[in-house]
Amino acid sequence: MKKYVYMFIALLGLATVAFGATDSQIWGEMRIQNILGYGQEESWKLGPLFTMLQHKYFAWIFLGVLIGVPAAFFIHYKIIGPKVFPHSEKKYYAFNLYNRIIHQVAAVSFLVIIPTGFIIIFGDFFGGGTFVRMAKNLHGIFTIPFTIVVIPMALMWLKEALFNMDDIKWFMILGGYLSKEKKPILAGKFNAGQKMWYWVAILGGITMILSGAFMYFLDFKMEMLHNLTGMSQIDLLRAAAIIHNVMGFAVLALFITHVYMSMFAIKGAVHSIITGYVEEEEIKILHSTWYKKLKDQGKF
Ligand code: HEM
Repeated sequence: MKKYVYMFIALLGLATVAFGATDSQIWGEMRIQNILGYGQEESWKLGPLFTMLQHKYFAWIFLGVLIGVPAAFFIHYKIIGPKVFPHSEKKYYAFNLYNRIIHQVAAVSFLVIIPTGFIIIFGDFFGGGTFVRMAKNLHGIFTIPFTIVVIPMALMWLKEALFNMDDIKWFMILGGYLSKEKKPILAGKFNAGQKMWYWVAILGGITMILSGAFMYFLDFKMEMLHNLTGMSQIDLLRAAAIIHNVMGFAVLALFITHVYMSMFAIKGAVHSIITGYVEEEEIKILHSTWYKKLKDQGKF
């Protein structure tokens, strides 16, 4: 096992050196000149906006989300507490192996993408250099598995993620999470909160991939986009950076919420995405519409 961990670290090290050593026109010294050359005169002049946001706000907002969202959940946990369902009763097989693998790949990707994203944001604090460059490369490398699974994940859960009338009622009582009571709540396989995460993870995830790719590949000419928007290459990059950050706030906030819900607020829910089984009691209370449907089908 140790052998594989070392091999993995060595591979990452090599990848970092390979990226760092590339000195082509695109990646090397010509980079900035190339970017500046792309139709400056038609530019949207996003420079001042980008500089202001980048210097004054982005890092602080990320830090605020990273501390604020868990703090709110900590208070929720202390005051309301978790919802605990018996784990010895009947279970329903809700996520097949394909669902679980796709989801696990996304989960592992995010567990690398998010911390490395923070190292990039606070690159100055970490003293720059190899450590931050390694984080930047890992951030890019782990985007690849997420890119592979994002469309399969979108498709496999699309039907369950479409909003319906149950969701309005769910929002009105905030899913019952502000009460200790275990009253059946209207929801299908996914409740409105889960659906919200689905859309942010999928559409937000794709936006992050595209805006990230723009920044990663820096000066590849995109004639179509230039013609369509009239934006210069440097402004396309500034727009990509702004979008990447703003969408990043939403993805981060909902990711923390998703992990809190599945690991803490609903005790043991995380097992469902490892074993595939959800507790009957949990379905009965938190997804009563789905429960009724399964019961009608004789599943319980
Ligand atoms: C450590 C990370 C993660 C954990 C512990 C986790 C846990 C879970 C669990 C337990 C479920 C099943 C919920 C249920 O019982 O119905 C679930 C569903 C889901 N997960 Fe994750 N997940 C993680 C990361 C991710 C990532 C990175 C994404 C996408 C980018 C993602 C997207 C989804 C979606 C779309 C669903 C279905 C809808 C929902 O439950 O919100 N998850 N996750």
